[in-house]
Amino acid sequence: MADTLVPQIWLADGHRIAQLGFGTFKVPPAQAEASVSEALRVGYRHIDTAALYENEREVGAAIAASGLPRDQIFVTTKLWNDDHKPDRARMAINASLEKLGLDHVDLYLIHWPSTVLYGDSYIDAWNAMQEFKREGLATSIGVSNFNPEHIGRLDGETPVVNQVELHPTFAQVALRADMARRGIVVESWSPLGRGADLDNPVIAGIAQSVGRTTAQVIIRWHLQSGIVVIPKSVTPERIAENFAVTDFELTDDQMKAIDALDCGNRIGGDPATADF
Ligand SMILES: NC(=O)c1ccc[n+]([C@@H]2O[C@H](COP(=O)([O-])OP(=O)(O)OC[C@H]3O[C@@H](n4cnc5c(N)ncnc54)[C@H](OP(=O)(O)O)[C@@H]3O)[C@@H](O)[C@H]2O)c1
Repeated sequence: MADTLVPQIWLADGHRIAQLGFGTFKVPPAQAEASVSEALRVGYRHIDTAALYENEREVGAAIAASGLPRDQIFVTTKLWNDDHKPDRARMAINASLEKLGLDHVDLYLIHWPSTVLYGDSYIDAWNAMQEFKREGLATSIGVSNFNPEHIGRLDGETPVVNQVELHPTFAQVALRADMARRGIVVESWSPLGRGADLDNPVIAGIAQSVGRTTAQVIIRWHLQSGIVVIPKSVTPERIAENFAVTDFELTDDQMKAIDALDCGNRIGGDPATADF
C-alpha cells in the first residue's frame, strides 16, 4: 500500500485496509473520473464504489490514468440486491471488473441483505462471494448494511468488513460492539451524515478549539474510534480537506463529547425494513 500517514487496519483474513478512503455514491459518471483522479492525486489510496453507483468505468479510468501500481490502491465494489443468486452474482462481479478494468477487487461487499424483497437470497450470495475469493476475483469479502442476525445466518467464512451507516448522531454503538466480538471491521458510510452532522454546535465548538473544520473533526472521530471512514466529495477543496486529518488528534474529552451526540439519527435505509 502507499506510504502515507493514513493508518492501516488488519482484516481478519490477513489483508490490510487503509482506514481513510474516498466514497463515490452520487458522484455522477461525468464527474467521477475527475473526482477520483483528484482524490488519488491528494493521496487517497482506497476508493469505494458499487455497481449501483454507475460510475465503476470512470473510477477505473481514474485508477488507470493515475499510473499508480495496482497494489497501492485498495478498491471496493459491491454486489447489488437483485444479483444475489449465484449465476447473477458471477455476471455482476465480472461486469464490475470489466468496467473497473481490473482483474480483481480488494474488497467485494454484498450491498444490502434486502430481505423484504429477496428473502434469504443473501445467503446464496455469500456462498458465491466465497467462490469469488477462492478464484482471486476478490481478495477480501464482506457485507454492508447487515445486522448481527443476518451475519449469524451466513455459512462458511465470516465477512471481514461490515459497511454501515455511521456518523456522530448515528453511532451504532451496539452494532460496533457486536462486530468487534466477531472480528469484523466496521466501515462508516455517510460518515458526515451526508452533511447533516456538519452543523452540529458541539462539533463546531471542537473544530474551533482545534483550528480545524467540522468535517475534519468528524473524520478524526471515526479514525480514533477505530472505524474505516469513506467520506465523499466532488469538490476539490473538500477532497483535500477531508484527507488532511493525520496531523492532529482529538482529546479523550473531545471524543467523549462527540460520542454523546448519538441520538439514533438514521438518515438512510434500515436494513431490517428496506424494501429495495
Ligand atoms: N453501503 C452503502 O449502502 C452505502 C450507502 C451510502 C454511502 N456509501 C458509501 O459511503 C460514502 C460516503 O457516504 P455519503 O456519500 O452518503 O455521505 P458523506 O460522505 O457523509 O457526505 C457527502 C456529502 O457531504 C458533502 N461534503 C463532503 N466533504 C465536505 C466538507 N469537507 N465540508 C462540507 N461538506 C462536505 C458532500 O458535498 P460535495 O460532494 O458537493 O462536496 C456531500 O454532499 C459514499 O460515497 C459511498 O461510497 C455506502
